[in-house]
Amino acid sequence: ILGDCVSKPHSWPWQISLRTSTGIHFCGGTLIDAEWVLTAAHCLERSKQPSSYKIYLGIHSEKATEASKQVRDVEKLILEPSGKDIALLKLSKPALLNDKVLPACLPDKDYIVPGNTEYHVTGWGETQGTGGEGFLKETGFPVIENKICNRPAYLNGRVKDHEMCAGYIEGGTDSCQGDSGGPLVCLSQSTFILQGVTSWGLGCPNAMKPGVYARVSKFID
Ligand code: ARG
Repeated sequence: ILGDCVSKPHSWPWQISLRTSTGIHFCGGTLIDAEWVLTAAHCLERSKQPSSYKIYLGIHSEKATEASKQVRDVEKLILEPSGKDIALLKLSKPALLNDKVLPACLPDKDYIVPGNTEYHVTGWGETQGTGGEGFLKETGFPVIENKICNRPAYLNGRVKDHEMCAGYIEGGTDSCQGDSGGPLVCLSQSTFILQGVTSWGLGCPNAMKPGVYARVSKFID
């Protein structure tokens, strides 16, 4: 996450860290059930073998020194069949749910988030020296409706219906390398709903080049 701040520890209890079998963080993900994680398909390009991955839950520091840490092996990878940038990971053993490890809710099928509503994006990804390196960071910005995001000055038709854009026109704060696969959530009637999965961008952060997120409501089936 570029800009903005370090999160209050464990305030995003569905955030997981996707790691290599040797424990190196490389992507985020979201717990959506005690034994299922949603992430980006491009995070799984390095290997189709479940044993290449580990999932860390209940942590705040990338070093994962917290007593609340839970580590799970991956039992199965399920890539979205159409090749779109979203995938499911089944844990080898369900997570123990508590106040530090808790799933996020899913949106209604085909729900379209309105423009200008405030979203939260979290991750242990690249900070480019903006602070908080090694700790879970968060940022908040509006969703930009696809019609606007696809204008020539913005992403010029690159954003598909199953994707959404979020960020400030002027840039400044954004998700970045290592945040991929992680959550974009919004608060709706005192419940956090997972609306997006961090997917891609044209550099980070760049004015008029908001981050692009897989639109979770298009994958409910
Ligand atoms: N693709 C990057 C990753 O693999 C993150 C993309 C987000 N980029 C952005 N400008 N918001 O970690």
